[in-house]
Amino acid sequence: MTRTVYLNGDYLPEDQAKVSIFDRAFLMADGVYEVTSVLDGKLIDFGGHATRLQRSLDELELRAPCDMDTLLDIHRELVRLNDITDGLIYLQITRGAPGDRDFVFPDPETTEPTIVLFTQSKPGLADSPAARTGIKIISIEDQRWGRRDIKTVQLLYPSMGKMMAKKAGADDAWMVEDGFVTEGTSNNAYIVKGNKIITRALSHDILHGITRAAVLRFAKEAQMEVEERNFSIDEAKAADEAFITSASSFVMPVVEIDGVLLGDGTPGRRSLRLREIYLEESRKTAV
Ligand code: PDD
Repeated sequence: MTRTVYLNGDYLPEDQAKVSIFDRAFLMADGVYEVTSVLDGKLIDFGGHATRLQRSLDELELRAPCDMDTLLDIHRELVRLNDITDGLIYLQITRGAPGDRDFVFPDPETTEPTIVLFTQSKPGLADSPAARTGIKIISIEDQRWGRRDIKTVQLLYPSMGKMMAKKAGADDAWMVEDGFVTEGTSNNAYIVKGNKIITRALSHDILHGITRAAVLRFAKEAQMEVEERNFSIDEAKAADEAFITSASSFVMPVVEIDGVLLGDGTPGRRSLRLREIYLEESRKTAV
């Protein structure tokens, strides 16, 4: 089945969706994105993703091409047209294609934003084998720009980080700045000590994960303690458990950091419990 994608108001076969070479995202990474998961044909935490998208757009003075209700309709229509049971929906909004290259933002009155959405089918997304074994991570220096709270399409350094992990025989990388972990290349980072879940506090230094917000709320409801503070890689190596969160991995246990096994090297009890609660609760509120 040919994938149907959405581009600027039209549903098209993927090979017919074309964007200008002058698009600001192509030339300047001038665009924002969201990734929303789909389980059992329904969108997980759409409201959270829509709210963060609006914030990213506002921070960059980028105009939304449509309202959030229309966006929800487009997401749902793509799920239907592509018959997605489990998977992801990628959305990108850029400052459009002014017809030439110029650092200065184009006039929004004459240059329309570009909006693209496409689906990625991932059968069994919530039943990933990696969640049973846990993942291995390495630590790398955080060399990204200073506004990581805005979900821009500047993903070169995170891509390089994933490649560094791959070359080192690991699954992902946690980035470190001034001695403390910021986040994973495409996820938020956590350690667990006893009953305490520790993760970096929100600021411009990290993406404000939609999964993070839900997981911290569920952790508190499950009588776990939540501490939002900096932690170092050494503290992480000595932790009882560690995990990451994102729309694509939900809650994923980490079992090895820079070659050091956490505990007995199997996924931690609390990480697995949080994964279970997250999946159960977010399925209930899926739309
Ligand atoms: N990444 N931190 C970074 C740097 C991210 O890129 C992501 C998401 C997260 C987790 O955010 P959320 O829980 O809202 O997915 C944290 C998406 C999944 C991606 O780029 O594919």
